[in-house]
Amino acid sequence: MDDPVVEAAEVPEPGAVTIIIPTFNEAGNVRELLRQLTESVPSRLPCEVVFVDDSTDDTPAVVAAAAQDCPFPVTVIHRDEPVGGLGGAVVEGLRTAGSDWVVVMDADLQHPPALVPELVAAGERTNAGLVVASRYIAGGSRAGLAGGYRVAVSRGATWLTKALFPRRLRGISDPMSGFFAIRRSVVTTAEDGADALKPLGYKILLELAVRCRPANVTEVPFVFQDRFAGESKSSAKEGMRFLRHLLELRTASPIARMLAFGLIGLSGFVPNLLALHTLDRAGMHYLPAEVLANQAGVAWNFLLIEPLLFRSRRGHRHWADRAGRFALIANADLVLRIPLIALFVGELGMGVLTATVAALLLTFVLRFAGTEALVYLPRRNRMRKSRDRKVA
Ligand code: GDD
Ligand code: MN
Repeated sequence: MDDPVVEAAEVPEPGAVTIIIPTFNEAGNVRELLRQLTESVPSRLPCEVVFVDDSTDDTPAVVAAAAQDCPFPVTVIHRDEPVGGLGGAVVEGLRTAGSDWVVVMDADLQHPPALVPELVAAGERTNAGLVVASRYIAGGSRAGLAGGYRVAVSRGATWLTKALFPRRLRGISDPMSGFFAIRRSVVTTAEDGADALKPLGYKILLELAVRCRPANVTEVPFVFQDRFAGESKSSAKEGMRFLRHLLELRTASPIARMLAFGLIGLSGFVPNLLALHTLDRAGMHYLPAEVLANQAGVAWNFLLIEPLLFRSRRGHRHWADRAGRFALIANADLVLRIPLIALFVGELGMGVLTATVAALLLTFVLRFAGTEALVYLPRRNRMRKSRDRKVA
């Protein structure tokens, strides 16, 4: 990372705002953006501006030149590697922000700079931790969203997201907005666990709302303007990244992951039965056919569970190692079930049906826990634990 172009001149005053602006090749916009910010913010609210830049053009140089005319500190953090894209850039900015409030906005003037003081004021007034500038409440609109196709995609994505997180996004009509104010104290700094920020692409507000769970949310309407210069950096690839982001957020908790694991497991019955049918047709004895057909289900489950649930946790083992372990655990499940049923019926006096259900549930939980721990638990964690033990 390069040195900041302009050093933050002073420690921000209490109640001040840090404006974080992610930039990717916005040389044509940043001068006008700083001009409009200068016009509307410092007279109402002490501020500093932090650009987090992944540009390949001369955006940082243009910012540095334009910053000379600004009555507030302007910093450019240029990243050599654009880790996490737009969202990763914003998190990088959040790490450096020292003021009570942080406002995140785009550099292309689709987000009106004059609204910055209003967002913070609305947050102070209502004691909110998060203030979303929304296109979807009275007074707002998405005038600048180019084309019916993008409007439809945006609508669909908003609906899907709200459906997946009905509680955490309550009160947020526009979770896709890239324009919002958040209290610094709301932002989690955890490095590990379900609350750790792991932004993936464009939807940084979604990431913050879901993982940080701000207690109070307010919205302020705004009109999404046309871009001042240049083109949107969003793409079909960004759409795929968004779906992956949704999936990762939705399966962050162990319970949600277990449910998804179970659903995928259920779907494995289809290839299992198909294989059984085929082998039976081919004249194989049903017992070896059962064992073989089970492997079809196991393979199916492995191929779905890997990319969907453990995408970010599979680098530490060779795929053949993972597949072998996965298959071993899945087959152990099958072998374990019969003696368990016998135990439940014989020793605990359960009915056969109850015992079967109980055994199914128990082996399922064991299988999930076993897969988490023996296939996908990063080795680093285990090493850390054993080191701790040695120290103790
Ligand atoms: N640092 C960095 N790295 N900045 C990026 C990157 C990146 O990889 N990709 C985009 N940006 C910056 C752009 O330079 C711009 O300042 C801002 O992020 C938004 O990018 P646009 O390409 O203009 O996005 P958009 O207009 O299609 O989407 C905006 O509106 C959507 C609502 O329809 C964004 O605010 C989205 O988050 C929002 O959902
Ligand atoms: Mn834009």
